[in-house]
Amino acid sequence: MDRSLDRLQIVDDVMQAFADREDITDKWLIRQTIATAAMRRAILATLPMRPGMHIVDVGCGYGALLFDIAAMHSVHVTGIDHSPAALAVDEEILSTLAARGALKDGASITLQRGDAMALPLPDGFADGVVSRFLFQHIPNSRTAAAEMFRILRSEGFVCAIDSDDALSIEYPADPPAVTRAKDALKSLQRAKGGVREVGRQLASIFHDAGFSITQTFVVPQAVYSLAPSDLARDILAEQLQAGRQELVARGILTKPEYLELLRDLRQEEARWQFSMHAEIAVIAQKPS
Ligand SMILES: C[S@@+](CC[C@H](N)C(=O)[O-])C[C@H]1O[C@@H](n2cnc3c(N)ncnc32)[C@H](O)[C@@H]1O
Repeated sequence: MDRSLDRLQIVDDVMQAFADREDITDKWLIRQTIATAAMRRAILATLPMRPGMHIVDVGCGYGALLFDIAAMHSVHVTGIDHSPAALAVDEEILSTLAARGALKDGASITLQRGDAMALPLPDGFADGVVSRFLFQHIPNSRTAAAEMFRILRSEGFVCAIDSDDALSIEYPADPPAVTRAKDALKSLQRAKGGVREVGRQLASIFHDAGFSITQTFVVPQAVYSLAPSDLARDILAEQLQAGRQELVARGILTKPEYLELLRDLRQEEARWQFSMHAEIAVIAQKPS
């Protein structure tokens, strides 16, 4: 009997334990990983995985794709990220998962520091490349796509997943402090070269890099809940705190505005809200 669901449950439990740890920066990323598991797994289930394949996760962060793939398939996954801090946490998550039997028989995970613009892997190394929420952060998406093309073997696949601001709906609109916090974070991401509308661009990026596009789809997730939830407040506050220096240095918020925003965020009253977000996935193949 396939025990993938049991193993994925262990992944979720372990992620939750790490999301609660005080010493991890960017804990919001792990919380986002837990909250978006269903969308991600729906996309991963469509990939042409075969036992023994070499899969590379570019910009693996805290391992959202990496650990799910190794729990579901007997493949070798290499996680690449330029953040030593994220990779150090991944090593810890990995040993916890391995000890608890969350990796499928025959699966293995290797973690490697590297830049998406110059991947530290040889030509034709991978049978598949996956990447989630990387392209929205990088100014030079064409170079990243060309690198993915280079490390793939002929007929290997790539699956890129990302968001697009046009695919978010909130009704009624977010309260003012939440809107201000989201706007400040979006401005910071744009100022650093990120693209908030990259979801709609993914297919063109891979087509232009020489891939044949095999599938494009959108996976939505909607909730009707009291908002902002404590979790949403915490995530926004953590993101603001993590970006504090740059928000001020780039003139997006003054120091008093930053402090006021953190305070207002805590005080904003929660109300019932419908909210919808979606991820765009593009699956493409390197021609033979
Ligand atoms: C929003 S996180 C997404 C992490 C993970 N893929 C996920 O789905 O949760 C983006 C990740 O990309 C990494 N990253 C950004 N630019 C990179 C680059 N040029 N090379 C390698 N990693 C990069 C960051 O360090 C971060 O871990």
